[in-house]
Amino acid sequence: MTAMRNWDQLIQADRVHRSIYTDPAYFAEEMTKIFGGLWTYLCHESELPKVNSFKRVKMGLRPLIVTRDADNRFHALFNRCAHRAATVCQEPSGTASRFTCAYHGWTYKNSGELMAVAYAEGYGECLNKAELGLKKVTRVESYRGFIFGTLNPDMPPLIDYLGEARHYLDIFIDRAPDKELVVQSGAYRGTFNGNWKIAWDNAADGYHPAFGHRSLFEMTRIRNGQNKGGTHFSRNPDESPMYCKTFPNGHGLLHQRPGMGPSLWSRVRPAPGTESFVDALVKRVGETAAFEALEGAPGAGMNLNFFPNLMIIGNQIQVVEPLAHGKTQLTWFATTLKGAHEEVNALRMRIAEDFPNFGEVDDMEIFERCWEGLQAPEAEWVMMNRGLYRPDAEIMDDKGVRTVDASDEAPMRNYLQAYRKIMESEVTLAVA
Ligand code: FES
Ligand code: FE
Repeated sequence: MTAMRNWDQLIQADRVHRSIYTDPAYFAEEMTKIFGGLWTYLCHESELPKVNSFKRVKMGLRPLIVTRDADNRFHALFNRCAHRAATVCQEPSGTASRFTCAYHGWTYKNSGELMAVAYAEGYGECLNKAELGLKKVTRVESYRGFIFGTLNPDMPPLIDYLGEARHYLDIFIDRAPDKELVVQSGAYRGTFNGNWKIAWDNAADGYHPAFGHRSLFEMTRIRNGQNKGGTHFSRNPDESPMYCKTFPNGHGLLHQRPGMGPSLWSRVRPAPGTESFVDALVKRVGETAAFEALEGAPGAGMNLNFFPNLMIIGNQIQVVEPLAHGKTQLTWFATTLKGAHEEVNALRMRIAEDFPNFGEVDDMEIFERCWEGLQAPEAEWVMMNRGLYRPDAEIMDDKGVRTVDASDEAPMRNYLQAYRKIMESEVTLAVA
């Protein structure tokens, strides 16, 4: 049910009302319309590497188990016993052909069907096992290993929902010699006090790095010299060749790569011990081939964001998980490249350790400051008008893509339009 709200007032061309962050009523509605009504990223196929693999994830507040069954089919099951609602799977990931509820022992196949009920004779004829499987996300689709789910029968196919933005995901994946990504389930996780959309406001924000990450860049300059990680933000980013793109459905890109010079590897912040991997690789394959391969160790120089919960940052993927209207969990999964030298993949892991430890803590501190500031009800508006004055600010190509300056707030305006569109719709969700 859609509450009667004046969206023209709440989300304007140049500003957004604080209440969409602070009012728990919006959060409750988002948990069905956004996380459920849109295509939500669940996990990566490489995290379910063999038959009977499973992984626990969330779709909004719904606890799910994503499984690969004995026939290699993927399912997204509600982790919720049909009897009295207890979760049936506690492990974060692993292998299991069935799940047994610890409360009264009901047992389900990893494809969801109810297999066995303890002391079933106590139900006489009143139990229809065929109707008592684990509920399922009705539509589960993958794009190049990235598994998404939706409960909305009206959503277009996943590939259309990702649209033009998926070509940038292709760039990220195609850096693997075998054109496949491996997502490592071991992850860095952080929780901040604040609404999940505050992280989205920042997702393709080329305006903040020189300020929000100033101490990181300063430390980098002092320790490692001028031309290392992040220093391409030390001057006005709009004067660099970097740019942003906005895509239909709220997706966005901050393309840092054009501002990063010819070699990505040369910009990596050195970390103790990493030289040994470089030395080993050079010794094994020679200098030319080694440094060519090392270009695959850092990220692709993109912040690429798929609304509502998947972000590509550096060489990692980040998943945004709302926990409450004022609490959000962010998880950074390291990725490795299929077919790459083991030294390159080891360095990818080391580089992946670097940014969350130094950079993401800056962002989460800022997100909490925004949340604190939003608690002042008399200051009603959050601005998002940077770049709006430019004559070409709202010009789209024939695919609905805009290209704008790196510090423009167009990505924020863009995702909030997608947000508004679904929030003002009637959405009917279906489960199997
Ligand atoms: Fe699962 Fe009773 S709640 S068997
Ligand atoms: Fe940041």
